Amino acid sequence: MKKNSIKKQFPILQQKINGKPVIYLDSAATTQKPQCVIDSLSEYYTEYNSNIHRSSHKLSQKATSKWIEAHKVVADFLNAGTYEEIIFTRNCTEGINLFVNTYAKQNLQKGDIVVLTEMEHHSNIVPWLMLQKEVGFDIEYIPVKDNYKLDIKWYEELIKKEKDRVKIVSIIHLSNVLGIVNDIKKITELGHSIGAVVLIDAAQSVARLPIDVQDIGCDALVFSGHKIYGPTGSGCIYIKKEILEELPPYMGGGEMIKEVNRKSFTLNGLPWRFEAGTPDIADGIALAVAISWFKETIKNIGGYEVLIQHEKNLISRFISKFEGLDWFKLFGKRERIGVISFNLEGFSFMGCKKETLESNDQGKKILDFISSRGLCIRDGFHCAQPLHTRFSIGPTMRVSVGIYTDERDIDRAVQIIKQGVLRTM
Ligand SMILES: Cc1ncc(COP(=O)(O)O)c(C=O)c1O
Repeated sequence: MKKNSIKKQFPILQQKINGKPVIYLDSAATTQKPQCVIDSLSEYYTEYNSNIHRSSHKLSQKATSKWIEAHKVVADFLNAGTYEEIIFTRNCTEGINLFVNTYAKQNLQKGDIVVLTEMEHHSNIVPWLMLQKEVGFDIEYIPVKDNYKLDIKWYEELIKKEKDRVKIVSIIHLSNVLGIVNDIKKITELGHSIGAVVLIDAAQSVARLPIDVQDIGCDALVFSGHKIYGPTGSGCIYIKKEILEELPPYMGGGEMIKEVNRKSFTLNGLPWRFEAGTPDIADGIALAVAISWFKETIKNIGGYEVLIQHEKNLISRFISKFEGLDWFKLFGKRERIGVISFNLEGFSFMGCKKETLESNDQGKKILDFISSRGLCIRDGFHCAQPLHTRFSIGPTMRVSVGIYTDERDIDRAVQIIKQGVLRTM
């Protein structure tokens, strides 16, 4: 894989922090943006900034056609049946909230079951807990086994035992903590066998694995644009047309309607009826640029297999450099994609839970040391607190790779972490 030619396209990665080259290993939180995406944002604001679907002037016509085109690019990328199945959102979280507050709210009743997993991101737990308070359905979590895989037997039994009650299955494709890929095709098939509807959280997989919604067979799928080299403020939910056609609107306002009078309104066509108000136009258009860039780059490196192998090699390189050091505690299996979560014995990190947890002095010192050396990694629960609780561990450190990560990044990161441990122990 010609890593350097990819890295060169990312201006932020050419920077220095405290005179040291930036080593960006936080791509699971957000990816960096290639120059073509940055150019697209600047082009929109310098050349055709205007609102979409409304004015008939030239600028608006251009923005509107780019907006529609962007939906087509995403539809093609996911292999959706039509762009009408693609609703642009600000991120993955908004997509899940849309699904919960439309499909789930309309269809769930007290006594029904929604199936999640113990490895979900908070974005795929909290919206369900919020609706549960209103409706009173039950939530069951597919357990994560001691070998970090989902307990599919448990799920099969639940499906058999509760076939009349399980109505929705909502699961993560690739864990943002364990780097484990779940068999979403099988989970979808099992869900469908009893008539349940299946939503997939593809936040981490979208930039790492091929996604084909027709092949998976899922009813809905969400992702964030900023995790696939696109801008923040962009994302998408795919929903099968036959389901989408029956859904109540999510937010009310301009552009989601055809006509309005004092007492009622009629709905616009798909997908616009789910995109109320002025959307993040520049970001949505740049998302399509990011996806086209990503597809082209995957083609140039020789396909997804090459990217997957590249990530596996980097991960294995990182883990093997800590072999035999008993203070390095890997969270999860060695075989993984995208992310490596681990603990350093004697160090504790507060992550994003500043109010409830305290990093110990060593934890604070090593985090300061690491960031002063230009290394960008994350500490915390990675928005997957129930998973950490399941294994009785506190916040972890996480290194995550992207398409631009190379062996040099990994070697430098290992060196900095080891130096940090030696200095602060
Ligand atoms: C697996 C998973 N799901 C959902 C999300 C939420 O994404 P966003 O914050 O962009 O909505 C993330 C973000 O880290 C994630 O990793």
